[in-house]
Amino acid sequence: MAPPMFYTKYPHPSNFSFVTDFDAATGRARAGKRQFQFSATSHVDGFFHLAARDPGTWLPNVSLLELDVPGTSPDSRVRVGPGLDLALLDQAGTPLVQSVPGHAFGVCGEASMFLFEVSDDAQFLGMGEKGLGRIELSGVRTKFWNTDVWSDFHWSQWKDHPVDPTYFSTPYVAVRTGGKWVGFLLHNPGVTFMETPGTDRTRVFAEWQRTSRHLILGSENGEPSLWIFTSDDLAGLTRKLQGLVGKTPLPPLWSLGYHQSRWGYGGQKDILELDRQFAKHGIPCTAVWLDLDYMDGARVFQVAPKQFPGGVEATVSRLDSRRRIVPILDPGVKRENGYRVYDDGHAKDVFCHNSEGSEFVGIVWPGETVFPDFTLASAREWWSGYAKEFRQSGFGAAWVDMNDPSTGPVDPTEMLFNRGKEPHALHRNQYALGMQMATREGFMLAEPGERPFILSRSGSTGTSRYSAVWTGDNVSNEFYLRQCVPTTLGMSLSGIPFNGPDVGGFGGDADDELMVRWMQACLLFPFFRNHSTLESRREEPWHYAASTRKQLAHAIRLRHRFLPYLYQLFIGQEELGDPIVRPLIYDFDDPALASVNDEFMVGPFVLHAPVLGVGQTDRNVILPGSDPWYNLSTGKWLPPGEHRLGVPLGSSPLFLRSGAVVPIQPELPTDNRVDLANPVLLVAVPPSWIGETQAEYCADDGLTFDYRKGVRSKGTVSVSGATARWDQTQSGFGSLHPVIAWPVGSPVEVVGSSGPSEKLDLQFLGRALKWEATTLSR
Ligand code: NOJ
Repeated sequence: MAPPMFYTKYPHPSNFSFVTDFDAATGRARAGKRQFQFSATSHVDGFFHLAARDPGTWLPNVSLLELDVPGTSPDSRVRVGPGLDLALLDQAGTPLVQSVPGHAFGVCGEASMFLFEVSDDAQFLGMGEKGLGRIELSGVRTKFWNTDVWSDFHWSQWKDHPVDPTYFSTPYVAVRTGGKWVGFLLHNPGVTFMETPGTDRTRVFAEWQRTSRHLILGSENGEPSLWIFTSDDLAGLTRKLQGLVGKTPLPPLWSLGYHQSRWGYGGQKDILELDRQFAKHGIPCTAVWLDLDYMDGARVFQVAPKQFPGGVEATVSRLDSRRRIVPILDPGVKRENGYRVYDDGHAKDVFCHNSEGSEFVGIVWPGETVFPDFTLASAREWWSGYAKEFRQSGFGAAWVDMNDPSTGPVDPTEMLFNRGKEPHALHRNQYALGMQMATREGFMLAEPGERPFILSRSGSTGTSRYSAVWTGDNVSNEFYLRQCVPTTLGMSLSGIPFNGPDVGGFGGDADDELMVRWMQACLLFPFFRNHSTLESRREEPWHYAASTRKQLAHAIRLRHRFLPYLYQLFIGQEELGDPIVRPLIYDFDDPALASVNDEFMVGPFVLHAPVLGVGQTDRNVILPGSDPWYNLSTGKWLPPGEHRLGVPLGSSPLFLRSGAVVPIQPELPTDNRVDLANPVLLVAVPPSWIGETQAEYCADDGLTFDYRKGVRSKGTVSVSGATARWDQTQSGFGSLHPVIAWPVGSPVEVVGSSGPSEKLDLQFLGRALKWEATTLSR
């Protein structure tokens, strides 16, 4: 058996030998008794790469993810001293980042670590799915090791306390130090760790609370590889990260809608009932999700015939044509002779081995299960074939679960990779990535022209290219409601923009208030799905009291009203790498904003300060910057600064930034229709504002890849003071007919407007607002 793995203990520098001799000409480095190759290269656009190689100690990088690495820079901007003291320089030769003298890079067995100096007031953000309840991560010791939280931690901890590590590993941290932003990405699917200066309040004794004075980044195994890049601001840094790890390809528009899920929905009968209820209540819902119950005895890729008597397609044909069925897929394959998927996988030798050379066996839903080795191209291809069949049978997307990988009570470290040759810990964190790649590929094979949609529980750096992510099992309580904002923001800053929690909480019962608050908090999150477990009370909107149902329906309709805006943000992600939601510090570079954990920006123009407490009737809201904000609950402009606002249950403070251009649907939708060609463009300009903004608006079919062949229309909205102008710049998807709207009292003169303005009925989260609108002459 592999040695036990402690994921709440961290390597300490005193146990490491640091490089004392380095020969820049040959790249030979000596640390203690060990000699190895070390390289420090500078790349264009301010990227640097540090790496060590020694075939006797580390296998060459086994990552499935190929980074989009910028070319090497003609002039080296790395200064290396004889003891490997590293300085990464800017164009003028001034150090941007420096290693700790005498402690730049150390080794201890297979483990390795880099130590960097940071300024006393340094701030740390990112680290992926950390769930620590805050976006600023000073005083953190953390490991990156994908867990199945409910299986790997005691319930008394996860029910209402932070757990770490969670399902997802992306060892990236964005550091503000010395007035610059520096990104550090460990490119290693093995077990990695970080330590940031500060106080670790998860420990009892003062001696254990004090963390390192330096930034520590390291790996317990796997070839050391560290990417470093810098920027003047967090937005620039995040773009660089996303460019390196891969931007999220534009998802289908339907995937941005509201999703309804529950463990317990079986098949046709439940789906048609959901379909009927959504239509009856006039609530949009673009996908209904099937958990384990649709399967034949939890056998993956095997549908229980009784659940779909006429086949999946027959159910799809009776469903709202804008609604998809999304089935769950687990990696654990029931070990059973005569079960097609097992027999086929066994014959092709695609399952992971143990050190005895037989198939590794864990215990998941169907009992004894074996696990495809997704690090093998042959296993991915094998899985893709089944995923393709599933898409062809009528399923509209895929939900890949338990891919941490969860082995239930069985020690996973005996699950070896590459036919028993490579240890579990080297690949664990990229297991889900391989599953996402294979599933997406299967969908692409089935429908090459259509954008696939995959949702995954676990993942790693690079998941952004293949799959959206939900942030795992949570509980219907205030702790998790509060938690969902910093967790989603942490992911967004770490290159995983398409994510969101189980709205309402997975375990336990969300009562009326909690459900309303949760629905409000997440209504502009990148991914928006209500999911609950078998034992929970029913949590579909119509199972709540009439007044609650009204509020839930309103929040969901609002989500759909904002779909044109969210879609633009996803286009911005694909083109530039900008996250959909981001902390205030992303758009407003003020260190004090790093402690705001309960507000966020949705794109550049919308600020949401949801209510994350139960029984809360007012809250403080910080409005950053130097311009006024338009309150979408009251219709009033508020000056920047801190405000105390009343937040009755129907309200959830949403603001438009001065100069905002926000495309929405003309009506509050009661079904899944979205007309991207005819949006209302909300233009919010406070009286006597003299700023300028420009926003691009794009429309396409929302479903296929045709936009890549030019089947897309575009226009630009230019706002200058109180004047707005629309110019259509591209017409591949036909002509666009936006309506431009402004709040009464903050008039906007629209260049080329076609006559008198009309009243617009707008109600966001609060009272009905008075706006005016004008169409443009055709
Ligand atoms: C674990 C997942 O996290 C959860 O969402 C799902 O409902 C259960 N597995 C059952 O499949």
